[in-house]
Amino acid sequence: MSASSVEPRRTVEVATYVEARAGLLNRNLRQALYDEGAVVMEDVLLTLHGPPHRARRAMEHRIFRRDFLRYYEQELFPAVLEETLRPFLEAGQADLVQFGYQVTMNLTADFAGVDRPEKSPEETASLLALVKKFSEGATLVHSTRDREGVRAEVRAALEVFDEQFLQPSIARRRKALAALDAGTITEAELPRDILCELLRGESELPLEPELLRREIAFYLQAGSHSTANATVHALHDLMVWGELYPEDLQRAKDDMLFLQRCVHESLRLRPASPVAWRRPVCPAEVDGAGPVDEDDRVVLNLHAANRDQSIYGPTADDYDPHRQVPEGREPWGLTFGVGIHICLGRDLDGGTAQKGRYDPATHQYGIIALLVRALLDHGAVVDAANPPQEDETTERRNWGAYPVLFPGRYTKKRGE
Ligand code: HEM
Repeated sequence: MSASSVEPRRTVEVATYVEARAGLLNRNLRQALYDEGAVVMEDVLLTLHGPPHRARRAMEHRIFRRDFLRYYEQELFPAVLEETLRPFLEAGQADLVQFGYQVTMNLTADFAGVDRPEKSPEETASLLALVKKFSEGATLVHSTRDREGVRAEVRAALEVFDEQFLQPSIARRRKALAALDAGTITEAELPRDILCELLRGESELPLEPELLRREIAFYLQAGSHSTANATVHALHDLMVWGELYPEDLQRAKDDMLFLQRCVHESLRLRPASPVAWRRPVCPAEVDGAGPVDEDDRVVLNLHAANRDQSIYGPTADDYDPHRQVPEGREPWGLTFGVGIHICLGRDLDGGTAQKGRYDPATHQYGIIALLVRALLDHGAVVDAANPPQEDETTERRNWGAYPVLFPGRYTKKRGE
């Protein structure tokens, strides 16, 4: 990322679906959104390019194999979900933003390989505070604060993370890998996560300690904000639609495949990253922008591309879970990216696409659909006395607070 802080000579933008997709697939364009955030993003998977990216991605991809994702969704995640939801149910209320962050922090820590020995809400909260600081560092380009000041805070957060969470997690995995070598445990008993995979592969692909720290810190961010925000959006969009079409709200409660469609429609309309930024690695041709070179910044407008009427029809701006999406196009649009950097968490969060024959018992619906269903199952309703608030701290249209009530069983318990 040596060209990182060099300001581009010019910025070009493409905003149609076909052009934005071609931009994501263009191998002459490298990731550029996190150049200012090198303090935490330098040389992590998302910012690597070319052969080093390919090699690390191949290694990390092993954690996202379909059989494991299905197992995680069906066997491991339900317990994490119930555990996180229980205190909110007992209180009869929840701020969905807070709930979303807590549950997804645990989810991404599981995948990254960050142990939480206490498994307490306080421990999750302290990890979350660190991850929010990492994200502030990653998105420094949008910051209105003093950049050097933020960088110093991020460095300090990385130190705390290293000492409190990462080193103990590394030690446990090294012990497990030694036990595997000694034949005292089996392959199936190894922790199944990115950290363990990277430690196991270090002779093949060595990572300096600081880079390993950034890589794991990146994973914690990669999944948590996007999943938490997408969950709140998905529930909100469905509730609003359900006021007009109560039969669809009921169907979403009864039919997981339909609920998954609702989630995909919401993901399409509200991509976690509304734009992707790229820099050419050499003089290149970009569809919709013409010739570009290393001094240019290419902005791929994913938000606009996902609402392209030539793909998603004349009502592309509206939420409609019955939308017919043309063959070969994603119902979630470009929200998970495409090409070399396509999101490794796509199937985990969004489930697998609904096409051809599928078995409802083994179909992967995705974590977001599972979260929304759990909230619906527990009767979540918007708290009329406390309307949802938009997040004022970001230009991205996210919810800052989304209070819901869980009337019924648990509320009665409170009054006992
Ligand atoms: C709603 C949820 C999510 C959304 C919308 C999302 C979106 C994205 C997008 C757009 C990219 C590509 C960025 C680019 O090309 O510039 C990406 C990359 C990535 N995502 Fe996600 N993501 C989500 C959840 C997750 C989760 C849960 C994980 C991990 C557990 C994850 C791991 C990654 C990784 C590792 C990459 C980098 C891949 C690479 O550079 O090769 N994401 N994500």
